[in-house]
Amino acid sequence: MCGIVGYIGDKNAYPILINGLKRLEYRGYDSSGISLLNSRLNCYKKKGKVSELEGLVEGKDISGTIGIGHTRWATHGEPNDVNAHPHTSMNGTFTIIHNGIIENYTSLRDRLISRGYSFKSETDTEVLANLIEFIYSFGKVNAEIAVRLALTKVIGAYGLVVMCAEEPDKLIAARKSSPLVIGIGEGEYFLASDATPIIEYTDRVIYLNNDDVAIIKKDELILKTIQNNKLEPKIEKLNLGLSEIEKGGYDHFMLKEIFEQPRSIEDTFRGRIAADYSSIHLGGLFSVEEKLIAAKRIIIIGCGTSWHAGLLGEYLLEDIARVSVEVEYGSEFRYRNPLIFEDDIVLAISQSGETADTLSAIQLAKDKGATVIGICNVVGSSISRETHAGVYTHAGPEIGVASTKAFTAQVTVLAMMSLFMGSKKGHIEAKRYSELIKELSEIPSKIEKILKQNDKFLQIAKKYQDATNFLYLGRGYSFPVALEGALKLKEISYIHAEGYPAAEMKHGPIALIDKKMPVVVIATRDDSYEKIVSNIQEVKARKGSVIAIVTEGEEIISGMADYTMEIPSTDQKLMALLSVIPLQLIAYHIAVLRGCHVDQPRNLAKSVTVE
Ligand code: G6P
Repeated sequence: MCGIVGYIGDKNAYPILINGLKRLEYRGYDSSGISLLNSRLNCYKKKGKVSELEGLVEGKDISGTIGIGHTRWATHGEPNDVNAHPHTSMNGTFTIIHNGIIENYTSLRDRLISRGYSFKSETDTEVLANLIEFIYSFGKVNAEIAVRLALTKVIGAYGLVVMCAEEPDKLIAARKSSPLVIGIGEGEYFLASDATPIIEYTDRVIYLNNDDVAIIKKDELILKTIQNNKLEPKIEKLNLGLSEIEKGGYDHFMLKEIFEQPRSIEDTFRGRIAADYSSIHLGGLFSVEEKLIAAKRIIIIGCGTSWHAGLLGEYLLEDIARVSVEVEYGSEFRYRNPLIFEDDIVLAISQSGETADTLSAIQLAKDKGATVIGICNVVGSSISRETHAGVYTHAGPEIGVASTKAFTAQVTVLAMMSLFMGSKKGHIEAKRYSELIKELSEIPSKIEKILKQNDKFLQIAKKYQDATNFLYLGRGYSFPVALEGALKLKEISYIHAEGYPAAEMKHGPIALIDKKMPVVVIATRDDSYEKIVSNIQEVKARKGSVIAIVTEGEEIISGMADYTMEIPSTDQKLMALLSVIPLQLIAYHIAVLRGCHVDQPRNLAKSVTVE
């Protein structure tokens, strides 16, 4: 949520900042802006995408070898030019970019107004810019001290970078609950809210921790705490290639990521399942293995698509590992005084590893003494560092805002965890264990087969592109897939869509069904097949239009449904990994046909770092 980029060195900062902002646009795209320091401080900002900003700076002074840039997802104040970052202090001494929320900004703002400060924007960030300037001028301290003192007055979350016009040789960065990473070059440093803008320049990085402040000159980096205690920077090596964050010939990142799934799922289980399918090895869980096996209860926490993966996790873990599971939204968990016991395992699922509600829920669980395990995609992310143990999904960077390959990677990890626990606990016999591992290893090639039908899915999408409502139905393992399919459609095409347990349709949604209502039914061959056939008949009897996801060779439903989308057969425990693929593609095609901006849907952000 919001992207931050900064540069200090000998090169022109502008192209580095603009390039970085384009890479970060997936985090927010309400507005963008840059500040550049040469003999004077120039700040340019504009509502809309980074391309609008490029238009704005044409013919203007964009020189300078030090600068900061920001792409915004609005929290305080509507998206417009004035509320865009960077924010400059009233007397023009400081300019700042900020991710996160300053919770006590109204009281700080009132105090600054009483000291003669005035404000141009409605943002919390401008309050911080003025607070730093006020401390700097009245306290007669240097920029670094002013920033650190200001941060002691702030309640809330921030990842921020500050430039001071009177100390033009440095950037000052600080982090609390909102990620920041510093890239180390030769006589230059790069700053960003995630590594994507940095990887083309360097693979040596430092991730800031909470309460860290970095004072960065072109040839020197000093790391300390807000309280002025010096820290030793821990330099890490980035394991990310440029090709992984580019579109690679696809029209959209989302399409590329859908088509990457055979590879990404293989990356998720590579090295973790034995070549003879006899065992599963999850190295990241080694330190908590005993607790995990002994656990009476697992609480799964996630948001959005990660919550849907969590719901599948509940079905898998209860079914295979016979452990009681509850699935919670990060936001609800924290605010309802939940019962958490010391022998509980809390499983936090997050693609970005930065979702604020999930992070807060983790903190609560840790405070109550529970063991917290993370399932994250982004290596080095906050959640992966806050948890006691974890399993990376290794799906590679996911840029499209609508999550696709991260979801199937999360489900793959959950299936492996369930099998691993089921086997350790003696709930699954060796032969069945091995069969299911083999079945999992065949998922990538089965997805390849589904992807080959993409043209057929496009033709079906054309029939429904003007629909205004959709219903998605599934039973058992297919119910979370129905939720996920509906979410994909509404996120990127703005068509209202509901996911529902198929049997529950009779208790409400059936009233909505008429000839204008397309109903997507996940009707693969599993334990509830007969029941789902009856549900399809109920829809058809009310003239609803049925699009069914069926198992290859299906005849009965093909004769009833308006359209069918075939997927290869697999064990029902793993079916979600296949049945979700046509739903991702249908949502994608409908959104493209409707002219929607698939990779950057309105109002959404890739990682939601505010509560
Ligand atoms: C946002 C994204 C979703 C994502 C959710 C949770 O809403 O748009 O795609 O599922 O956050 O994000 P996480 O990074 O925690 O999985």
